[in-house]
Amino acid sequence: MQDPLKIGIAGLGTVGVGVIKILEQTAERIAARAGRPIAITHVSARTRGKDRGVDIGGYTWCDDPGALADAPVDVIVELMGGSDGPALVLAQKSLSAGKHFVTANKALIAHHGQALAESAERSKAVLRFEAAVAGGIPVIKALCDGLAANEIVSVQGILNGTCNYILSVMDQEGADFGDVLADAQRLGYAEADPTFDIDGIDAAHKLAILAAISFGAQIDFDSVSVDGIRAVSPVDLDYARQLGYRLKLIGRAHMVDGMLEQRVAPTLVPVGHPLAAVEDSFNAIVFEGVPVGQTVFEGRGAGEGPTASAVVADIIDIARGGDAPAFGVPAAALKKLSATPTEARQGRFYVRLTVEDEVGVAASIASLMRDHGISMDSLLQRGEAGKGEVTFVLTPHRCALSVIEAAAEARAALEVVLSKPAILRIQDQDDV
Ligand SMILES: NC(=O)c1ccc[n+]([C@@H]2O[C@H](COP(=O)([O-])OP(=O)(O)OC[C@H]3O[C@@H](n4cnc5c(N)ncnc54)[C@H](OP(=O)(O)O)[C@@H]3O)[C@@H](O)[C@H]2O)c1
Repeated sequence: MQDPLKIGIAGLGTVGVGVIKILEQTAERIAARAGRPIAITHVSARTRGKDRGVDIGGYTWCDDPGALADAPVDVIVELMGGSDGPALVLAQKSLSAGKHFVTANKALIAHHGQALAESAERSKAVLRFEAAVAGGIPVIKALCDGLAANEIVSVQGILNGTCNYILSVMDQEGADFGDVLADAQRLGYAEADPTFDIDGIDAAHKLAILAAISFGAQIDFDSVSVDGIRAVSPVDLDYARQLGYRLKLIGRAHMVDGMLEQRVAPTLVPVGHPLAAVEDSFNAIVFEGVPVGQTVFEGRGAGEGPTASAVVADIIDIARGGDAPAFGVPAAALKKLSATPTEARQGRFYVRLTVEDEVGVAASIASLMRDHGISMDSLLQRGEAGKGEVTFVLTPHRCALSVIEAAAEARAALEVVLSKPAILRIQDQDDV
């Protein structure tokens, strides 16, 4: 057997400790699969003396994670997090020194993936980030290898387990967003600062990475339109069910007239759609490809074991000599695609508004829709006797988001409208 592949790990938190456990506890199996032993030799984190539940006494400690790039190791594994700061410095130093670089850091790749891929190729180093998207589900390898023969038409998925957990509990219990979030934080399912998760940014990082690989394009995180789940109300989950849908936070990317459209938004998906049945903290991704058709991947998108599983898979790939480009094609061949202009983005929408229960209110909403050239697919109306208000849920035919927003703004200005209209996306079964 060959010499061991030497590893330096920066970041010994949830994922870092998971990687140490797999590499130490299943070393024989990993060596057999990798074709050579894998040896952790150097580690770094913020606090040296912290009890991490694993023995790190046999590794050389570096106070400065950036120093790992100068250490005698073959692969640097970055598990600190953050799009800039020490993670970026370590990535730049490692790759320009010709050291292979493995990370679980979606923010780093979403913001700097193109430059890092170019740097890796210049110095003939390998860059890998399987764990950055959907944790334990090997979707990047699936795209780059198993689906390599295909033209990808669309990619969509449930890319954030925390949001899916919150929406699942709201749906099952009819509970409010704030209460479910507080419970999720108490149970450790949501971070103390959940902003990146619930505002859709984490899902947008992952979507931008998947879109770049799917469409052979330079990563373009800034053009992802992002809406999180803060404004979702339990009544929307209930109405979604009545209409034959489930409400999920969906990331979706596809090409429209040669331009790339990427969005993350709470979306109604029909009950028969593979994403509709994905519950709790699970992730799932659906690719539509030609000629393969639809492929669906589901599993755990986060947590120590699933994420470390993907990190170790990348290390094994490098040990085997895998040197394919990080985004599936050489960085110089990645196209710079334009993004679809916001006003041109088409779709179907769910619009909920609560109005005073007055004679003629339905007619005034109908005429407002007509004035904006919007034709209706369905309309639900529900009022509670004695409450003095009535809720309308409108699902217009396919149209531009800008038209819906203009109509909603005009509607919100009507005196009878009691609260800001809720607008959600609808994803239909035949939308590829
Ligand atoms: N957790 C998951 O389920 C999951 C899933 C997919 C991807 N990821 C990604 O994996 C990466 C790590 O996540 P995690 O959950 O393992 O994070 P974590 O538990 O917070 O651990 C972060 C580690 O990085 C170290 N660190 C942070 N800032 C540092 C600095 N400035 N200098 C040196 N060390 C520093 C910390 O040191 P101390 O321990 O000494 O404080 C800690 O060991 C992130 O990019 C995350 O997005 C995580």
